[in-house]
Amino acid sequence: MAAEWLKTAVFYEIYPQSFMDSNGDGIGDFNGITEKLDYIKELGCNAIWMNPCFDSPFKDAGYDVRDYRKVAERYGTIEDLQRLFDAAHERGIHILLDLVPGHTSEEHAWFRESGRAERNRYSDRYIWTNGWLERPEGIGYIAGERERNGVYITNFFKCQPALNYGFLKRTADWQKSIDDPACLETRAAVAEVMRYWLGLGCDGFRVDMADSLVKNDDEKKSGTCEVWRDIIGQVKRDYPDAVLVSEWNNPASAIGMAGFDMDFFLDWTGNGYNLLMRDYDDTGRDDSFFKKDSERSITDFLDEYLPKYEAIGGRGFYCLITGNHDTIRAAYHLDERELKLTYSFLLTMPGVPFIYYGDEIGMKYQLLPSKEGGYTRTGSRTPMQWDDSPNHGFSKAEPSALYLPTDNGADAPTVQAQRERADSLYHTVRELLRIRRENGDFAVHDNLRILAASRGERGFAYERGSLIMLCNPSGQPETLAVDVSGAEQIYAVGSCRPEGGACVLAAQSFVIYARNE
Ligand code: NOJ
Repeated sequence: MAAEWLKTAVFYEIYPQSFMDSNGDGIGDFNGITEKLDYIKELGCNAIWMNPCFDSPFKDAGYDVRDYRKVAERYGTIEDLQRLFDAAHERGIHILLDLVPGHTSEEHAWFRESGRAERNRYSDRYIWTNGWLERPEGIGYIAGERERNGVYITNFFKCQPALNYGFLKRTADWQKSIDDPACLETRAAVAEVMRYWLGLGCDGFRVDMADSLVKNDDEKKSGTCEVWRDIIGQVKRDYPDAVLVSEWNNPASAIGMAGFDMDFFLDWTGNGYNLLMRDYDDTGRDDSFFKKDSERSITDFLDEYLPKYEAIGGRGFYCLITGNHDTIRAAYHLDERELKLTYSFLLTMPGVPFIYYGDEIGMKYQLLPSKEGGYTRTGSRTPMQWDDSPNHGFSKAEPSALYLPTDNGADAPTVQAQRERADSLYHTVRELLRIRRENGDFAVHDNLRILAASRGERGFAYERGSLIMLCNPSGQPETLAVDVSGAEQIYAVGSCRPEGGACVLAAQSFVIYARNE
């Protein structure tokens, strides 16, 4: 059973490097986040997912953990982090840390031991072949780096050796079965890390590459699911309310089989989520659904979303995000009106919504060289823009000392400016979150019913309990065969005119009606 608070949760994702620098060293920190908790609450969010904040050489922005139990110095001390937990809880805000269970940094003590020639307790904590001439097929591996006679498997970048949870289908004798004692030890070690942070006051974890644990797994990832059932079981025995959200994009496996509470619809090129707002290329083509001039229909999203959503029924939450630290910011290609329509949709759909810091003011994507393994993701990780003071109020450091440059464009949006403008994106997000809070039907996960959505059409409508949402992203009025008579309009971007049992939506409109029951 997922924790009750998730039903009304709205997450704010914080990339700690770039949110708020409290000590003027040019990089964000725990105390900076604590200072801004009231801002997060005022926006209407009541939960935070913070990207990895652990000791790391930062070759992948912290997703290369060197010590799971130590915080990275650049963010402050463990006491600062505990103060952040306390201050958040005082305000009714829950905090999830980012757990990276599939791999560590190559500098992790376990891996240093594992690479030694003589056998030791950590020899099988990672996946090694039996000799340097034995090479795994179809999986990334590294040779020539350690004294041990073997090559090891990586999980993502070169700096991220894969932890050993075994192989479902074994084809060589260096591949352990998933219940080999060494693999059970890996599980126990990760469960121990989770208990450690839950004991210090975090409320759960966003779990990185949650589907990556068992190698040569089957299509449903039954091996990985079995491992998670065990780990989650171990953790929830002591912390039954711990919340776990998986980076997986397969709720039937993640929620239905592995035992996660929530799963994300991830942004993968060409998938249903990607087509909503990131379906463009270098030639200037942009067919994202929420672009005014696109010809795309919402069915391209629904065809993929609905089966996955329906597969979990009322158990757990399949979550939509405005973006994250791996995606190109939505404002790169969408203008303010298009963003308002996009967010109206994302924040009224089932699941627990996740807002990436700065998306609420339409922060733009910056073209920047790669930083800490970010590559094209770097441009979505720039400092939060609070106001018009130096460095947009993010830091008192010299601009040249900032973790990443701030957006110096004349049109860079800021929190301050958007608070002052009544029709800003910021106010739209606040309004949507207020409506979400005040209408219990948004807290029910399995009440989505599509009222209108056809291939070739731009407009669409859906219902959740007593609430009816209608959207026309196009530049022309659209008529939808949806009867809203007797219902009250409670939200509008643009406008809608009920007419003889149908609705005429003006160009680029999104409206919500509430039936009085
Ligand atoms: C997914 C994370 O979101 C991404 O930022 C990271 O680079 C990889 N996993 C590897 O951990």
